[in-house]
Amino acid sequence: MRMILIGPPGAGKGTQAPKIKDKYCVCHLATGDMLRAQVAKKTPLGREAKKIMDQGGLVSDDIMINMIKQELDTNKECQNGFILDGFPRTVAQANGLDDMLQNNNKPLKHAVELQIDDQLLVDRITGRLIHPASGRSYHKIFNPPKDSMKDDVTGEPLIQRSDDNAEALKKRLVTYHDQTAPVVAYYKKAGIWSGIDASKDPGTVWKSMLGVFDSKP
Ligand code: AP5
Ligand code: ZN
Repeated sequence: MRMILIGPPGAGKGTQAPKIKDKYCVCHLATGDMLRAQVAKKTPLGREAKKIMDQGGLVSDDIMINMIKQELDTNKECQNGFILDGFPRTVAQANGLDDMLQNNNKPLKHAVELQIDDQLLVDRITGRLIHPASGRSYHKIFNPPKDSMKDDVTGEPLIQRSDDNAEALKKRLVTYHDQTAPVVAYYKKAGIWSGIDASKDPGTVWKSMLGVFDSKP
């Protein structure tokens, strides 16, 4: 399996991707999680990225393309394939990914778009809790942890992301519609796009995802 998940902030990329990872034994590369790891380590990239992320902008294409290339080249979990969550986010990144995959003769199989209206995303984003070390996400109402504010697996504290507020979300949505919507058109043209209704509950969204994989194995 080699696929990408496209969708606006809060569409459910990070909720669905681990299920795909488990089903197909592939790596799950989430560029937002990778950047947040740099922020936590206070690297020069992390310091720069934090400002951009908190303002709802995008980190440069060159940095992101190199970050993904490095993982695909060296991460052993990616040998069976991959699911990319949050990348590509611009047409330049989509071109960069095509170049990498063509060099290895391993083209993408699916580009799945999680489709949902903007107004449903505010509640999802402002109620989200995450476990920073693993990237696992919960929701105060829609998917609460067993013990409030603690990760189900490790028992470690959950936090809110610094870009998970209504003001930053507005900017993230503008960025999504301006820069990432053309990526959808790019994959429609390439003939590997599928769209699914991401407004339903997580179990129903997962069933739709399985429907896509079954229809185009
Ligand atoms: P990133 O971390 O990728 O954020 P995002 O795209 O804004 O997406 P989110 O993580 O907010 O949403 P999600 O779709 O994963 O939703 P989730 O499943 O958690 O990127 C952050 C920033 O990093 C960017 O803004 C940018 O600055 C930078 N960046 C990252 N990649 C980049 C790139 N390639 N190029 C340049 N810059 C880049 O769900 C959200 C909540 O809803 C959760 O609480 C969840 O429990 C709940 N939920 C999920 N599904 C459902 C459902 N079906 N019903 C009810 N609740 C649900
Ligand atoms: Zn996410």
